[in-house]
Amino acid sequence: MRLQVFLSKAGIVSRRAAADIIKSGKVTLNNKKIFEPSYKVIPEKDIVSLNNKRVLPRERLYVILNKPKGVTTTKKDRFAAKVIIDLLPRGLRHLNPAGRLDKDTQGLILLTNDGDLINKITHPRFNVDKEYDVTLDRQLLSRDKARIEKGIELDGKYTAPCSISLKKNKKVEITLHEGRKRQVRRMFAASGYRVLELKRIKEGSLSLEGLEEGKWRYLTEREVTQIGGIL
Ligand code: URA
Repeated sequence: MRLQVFLSKAGIVSRRAAADIIKSGKVTLNNKKIFEPSYKVIPEKDIVSLNNKRVLPRERLYVILNKPKGVTTTKKDRFAAKVIIDLLPRGLRHLNPAGRLDKDTQGLILLTNDGDLINKITHPRFNVDKEYDVTLDRQLLSRDKARIEKGIELDGKYTAPCSISLKKNKKVEITLHEGRKRQVRRMFAASGYRVLELKRIKEGSLSLEGLEEGKWRYLTEREVTQIGGIL
């Protein structure tokens, strides 16, 4: 994107005024003065400042990340070895995660600067499905499966009905419509199972397919629309 376009998209000035401002030497790109309005900017990477104040791209940004184990879903935590935004380029580190995954849980996490969408995804009222691959410490018995699907009491409140499908060996797939704290682990623990591996593979219409562990990508326009974001 051209520097002039970046500034006008950020809502600071009109495109024409942006060109004049750039030519007057008030704009820096990664701490270097730039006088050329058509200079190329990579919004997710470059730091643009006007009169020494950072200008953030105003457009809505939506990315998904395939979180590895051992990474904490907070933006800053001085006790955490690694936090999710360490996996993003500098220009995307202002984005917020939509919900959380435990440190030991892997998989799909959406990050965005669209606060409305974060509310929608994390609020049970909106019923966004979340699908997990689970490895248990032993094979799930059908009576326990039925019990968990119906609803388990956690902290005095029943979990909403969910669906479980049995996979090979000790693996199952579970689809939830809510996201309480450590919900999958606690639902299985309540029936005497330990979750050894947990990975979120889908959230609403979003899927992790094709995204390597530790990597991120932008949502496509279609995905943004499907999940309820703004283009
Ligand atoms: N359920 C859990 O137990 N942990 C997660 O990170 C997500 C769902």
